[in-house]
Amino acid sequence: MPGKVLLGVCGGIAVYKVVSVASGLRRQGIDVQVVMTEAATRLVAPLTFQTLTGNRVYTDIFTTEQPGGVPHITLAQEADLVVIAPATANVIGKLAAGLGDDLLTTVVLATKAPVVLFPAMNVNMFQNPVVQSNLDRLRSFGFEIVAPASGELACGQVGQGRLPEPEHVTSWIVDRLARRQDLAPLRFLITAGPTREHIDPVRFLSNPSSGRMGYALAAAAHHRGGNVTLVSGPTELPPPAGVKLINVTSARQMRDAVMEHLPESDVVIKAAAVADYRPAQVEAQKIKKSEHGETITLEMVRNPDILAEIGAQKGQRLLVGFAAETRNLMENAAAKLQAKHLDMIVANDVREAGSGFAVATNRVRILTNDGHCQELPLGPKEQVADWILDAVRKVWQSRND
Ligand code: CTP
Repeated sequence: MPGKVLLGVCGGIAVYKVVSVASGLRRQGIDVQVVMTEAATRLVAPLTFQTLTGNRVYTDIFTTEQPGGVPHITLAQEADLVVIAPATANVIGKLAAGLGDDLLTTVVLATKAPVVLFPAMNVNMFQNPVVQSNLDRLRSFGFEIVAPASGELACGQVGQGRLPEPEHVTSWIVDRLARRQDLAPLRFLITAGPTREHIDPVRFLSNPSSGRMGYALAAAAHHRGGNVTLVSGPTELPPPAGVKLINVTSARQMRDAVMEHLPESDVVIKAAAVADYRPAQVEAQKIKKSEHGETITLEMVRNPDILAEIGAQKGQRLLVGFAAETRNLMENAAAKLQAKHLDMIVANDVREAGSGFAVATNRVRILTNDGHCQELPLGPKEQVADWILDAVRKVWQSRND
């Protein structure tokens, strides 16, 4: 598995942790090429990285020391993964603008390898809307961003902005290398977000799903070599890069889009929070208080159960459902797994802190149809997405061995 990592080091104080990351990667047999920005060399000497990696360290785009190659092109082509740690606000801004004014930024422009950023900076800098908007822009181009940790920062302030501890960064990179292309050539059909069930032209019934879990699954499946179609209810999220996105509003539209794309899918993951009922009648005109007085009664009818419909005709597909519950979590999840003919169900208690709707984290249990249950720790939805996909890969492999 070991591969080749290009480690881009910028001039943030967290650079001292990246020294341990470089040596940790080398100990795992990974070939580490280091490119330092000029600012980074003022904090740590290139010789430190050179000694720990056993490779020459690159700092200058205009070098005469490498005969027979243009360093930014050679480095860009040879890397399996480009990791930038710490990623400073300055480098994030330059990459978001497409600038290439030093060796690191030109390597990133020239590479076809996945690029992962570990932002680390003062909390106010990290929360600055310009920095956040640059990160969103980079995400929309397919860059992977690993959220900084919270805690005491070098400046004495407390907040989000710390580079995670070196062993976490190292194991993240090792896992990412192991997962490279591990889902190719699987075709994923993923649903995300809420549905809206209109009452009249200006009002609807919905739920607080943000779509984050489904979008994280779509992005992760794409990063790991899968071919992804994402059917999404209304969300505020930017479209994930490299994913075919189909926007829908109601449960019935979601059902039609899913059924249309079902034939060209191997794995179906239904992370959407679909409304079970819709108003029996959608008023053509806005409902007026003057016509209803103090109370109004809505008659509701059942929406199609998309997951159950797929379950009944899934063929060789691997079908993954979600169960968001407020009580009897495992009993309800197991019942849904059975009733809807699923291969796997991802269960979470939406009343638990940090879990469920409209938060950045989740804590889930994965139940498979052989009765096996895997309890996972609380983690960012991006990380939980990778764990769910690891479970999918395992079932797919065991079935196709
Ligand atoms: N689901 C679906 N179509 C629906 C309702 C739900 O495809 N009309 C899917 C969801 O995407 C999710 C799973 O079914 O993957 C579980 O949804 P949930 O609403 O929690 O369960 P239900 O089966 O609707 O049962 P209940 O509402 O009684 O808990």
